[in-house]
Amino acid sequence: MAMENFKQFLFALSAAVTVGFVSIIFVLRWVFYFKEGLAWDGGLAEFNWHPVLIVTGFIFMQGIAIVVYRLPWTWKCSKLMMKFIHAGLNILAFIFAAISLVAVFDFHNAQNIPNMYSLHSWVGLAAVILYSLQLVLGVCIYLIPITPTYLRAAFMPLHIYSGLFIFTSVIATALMGITEKLIFGLKNPSYKDSPPEATFVNVLGVLIVIFGGIILWIATRPSWKRPSEQVLRSPPTNGGGSVGTKVSEQTDPIDPKGNGDARRRSGKLEDSGQVN
Ligand code: HEM
Ligand code: HEM
Repeated sequence: MAMENFKQFLFALSAAVTVGFVSIIFVLRWVFYFKEGLAWDGGLAEFNWHPVLIVTGFIFMQGIAIVVYRLPWTWKCSKLMMKFIHAGLNILAFIFAAISLVAVFDFHNAQNIPNMYSLHSWVGLAAVILYSLQLVLGVCIYLIPITPTYLRAAFMPLHIYSGLFIFTSVIATALMGITEKLIFGLKNPSYKDSPPEATFVNVLGVLIVIFGGIILWIATRPSWKRPSEQVLRSPPTNGGGSVGTKVSEQTDPIDPKGNGDARRRSGKLEDSGQVN
């Protein structure tokens, strides 16, 4: 199944992956070159797990999980397989975020620093809690096969909106965290004197914003959406070979004759995520 503007898609995807990788290299260089490295000892090296796991897991992996349905070379794979990949990457991202929170709380407790006083921590914890809710609801509604189709369809716009909303909040939280850490950590010369660490980590923040921007762009292009299962599976009307490579025996509950057409791509059925 061909994708509209495939070259533009490829360009956006490569840009996102490149900027994502560079952000990971930046956060690693920050903690190893400018800061104390990584350790689990109640000290500053334990705190450093916090930004490292957030950038690799909660930002990069979550971003990739969000666009994974849009990769056209996966359209020949079953929807169920793609759901496992989407859910699996999101679960992994959640585990990274949870360990990063344990690291920062443990560090605060070891150093007698109060917990949950900052706006960063409030918005951040709220994002993690909403993310876990999104995960549980996603699994219950789209993976467990007993959920009725109408419920899957009704919930999909909310799932997409809240997914993008949480992802955006995570980026905003990371920016607040980076700013706080630079203000707290840089003394003689301080942040306002623009030492090399400050400039370097400001660039990390800009890279994170660009990564988020590209992911949101990819995830909101209607023409790059994974086509509905009806479109992927329906044989061409001119009697030629099969379009979808994975033609299932399963009959679609909404379109039992299997004669759905491309018009459905912009319709409601496509959003229901109902077909495995
Ligand atoms: C603290 C969450 C990213 C720097 C915290 C705390 C939470 C949190 C809940 C409070 C811990 C406590 O009260 O003991 C998050 C989330 C992030 C994120 C969900 C996802 C984007 C970052 C990043 C940095 C950072 C990228 C950059 C270094 C800090 C700092 C603290 C902190 C300096 C201690 C000061 C404070 O409590 O505000 N974070 N964080 N955070 N985080 Fe983050
Ligand atoms: C689609 C986010 C967990 C199932 C989406 C989309 C986003 C998103 C932003 C829109 C993607 C697009 O339009 O191409 C998230 C986040 C999750 C999460 C942030 C974790 C916190 C889950 C889980 C499942 C799931 C656990 C269970 C299988 C789906 C399905 C679609 C979808 C079926 C529709 C894909 C399509 O038809 O194109 N998700 N999701 N999600 N998600 Fe999730």
